[in-house]
Amino acid sequence: MSADLLGSHTVSTLQTMDRRYHVTTFGCQMNVHDSERMQGMLESLGYRQAESRDEADLILFNTCSIRESADNRFIAHLGEAKRLKTEEPSRVVGVGGCWAQSVKEEVFQRFPFVDVAFGPGQIHKLAEFLTSESLTAQGFFEFESFSGHLPARREREFQAWLQISQGCNCRCSYCIVPSTRGREVSRDPTELISEVNALAADGVREVTLLGQNVNSYGRDLDKASRISFAELLARVDAVDGIDRIRYTSPHPKDMKEDVIRAHAELPALCEHIHLPLQSGSSKILKKMRRTYDRQRYMDRVALIREHIPDSAITTDIIVGFPGETEADFDETLEVVDEVGYDSAFTFVFSPRRETEAATLDEQVPHAVKRERMERLVALVQKRAAERSQRFVGREVEVLVEGQSRTDPTRLRGRTRHNKAVNFDGIATPGDLIDVGIESATSQTLSGVAAKPLARLFR
Ligand code: 5AD
Ligand code: SF4
Repeated sequence: MSADLLGSHTVSTLQTMDRRYHVTTFGCQMNVHDSERMQGMLESLGYRQAESRDEADLILFNTCSIRESADNRFIAHLGEAKRLKTEEPSRVVGVGGCWAQSVKEEVFQRFPFVDVAFGPGQIHKLAEFLTSESLTAQGFFEFESFSGHLPARREREFQAWLQISQGCNCRCSYCIVPSTRGREVSRDPTELISEVNALAADGVREVTLLGQNVNSYGRDLDKASRISFAELLARVDAVDGIDRIRYTSPHPKDMKEDVIRAHAELPALCEHIHLPLQSGSSKILKKMRRTYDRQRYMDRVALIREHIPDSAITTDIIVGFPGETEADFDETLEVVDEVGYDSAFTFVFSPRRETEAATLDEQVPHAVKRERMERLVALVQKRAAERSQRFVGREVEVLVEGQSRTDPTRLRGRTRHNKAVNFDGIATPGDLIDVGIESATSQTLSGVAAKPLARLFR
């Protein structure tokens, strides 16, 4: 944080005594990370978290624009903020994130009750706005800095995000991200490793590296500091106290053997790879400008299975891209069947402003998209349920997260394969324990914590 901002903190702490904030987050993990930074920054300004929106003096939205449904959900919430602001005009309403970035100053025309709007590269400006003399409407949209160095309020003290890059140099024809988050900018590796050291010293055991395309990390850095993504993983792995490393998302075109080998070689790097497919049809992949075809994607999967046979593989799939025929969709189903994903995020294609795909002919009718989606989800779940069975009868390492959501007498955690587990046992959030798996569904595993005595005799 810059010196002038730190300087203004002291003053503002007095000004903001007893002020409360409420943040609603939409979209991806990058946004969850950015919201944690917003919250950390607000708390360092003396704000406290409000239980609900109507108790807040500062109402914030961290928005997403990836699909139209995300826009619509957010706009419905904004209606409530308008009502609360009318009731109490001293309330401040702020809108950050990708949707704000994509419409920029138009935010204030469409929603005149919004006080501050900022893009993903401008989170630090929120502090500047809140501590400035006049709270008249302001917008901040130039990409300036990472939020990684800002203080964070972590949801769980033993898990943290590490933003390694921002923006994306790909030109996927359906995606709005390059226009909302700009060109790819990587953070300096030395800065990242010192951040990981600080996190580990603060009790973090699991770190998730974040970027729009993590495995092209470092290409924009100057020669003196440039390292590859695989090397970055190795350096994070070497940090004492970090037991688990995850990352999201890689691009199949940049998924090189060194990263796949790293999964086999680095003890902390988890056995889970998220490899976004988008479509199984080479013709559609070309129209999407994904720069790989079905065969190259399957070669990557084969390489993963060769080096880490048991790895979980998950994916993103878009249904109903313009021009997708029944035969193209069948190819997607074939890939899903062949790979056997451990889980998949499935999306109905949504035309986004200023993207090439929105202007393409042959848009697929909504009813066709829906019907294909149903078939896709059924197959994904069937294969995921089959894949899950490999854990039954095994003892797996679980990072304990808390109470089970469905049964308060049980605990919940995650395996290295990123499967949620409900189990019987005694443990504290943040513990790493072994759990014997007794049954499995497509989404969750169920089991019993292994007893220390049983372990002695193993
Ligand atoms: N329509 C539908 N899904 C999309 N995604 C990105 N843009 C769109 C769009 N216009 C999906 C992709 C991506 C995930 C984060 O969101 O599958 O990997
Ligand atoms: Fe995340 Fe993409 Fe949505 Fe932005 S547009 S919040 S990067 S999913």
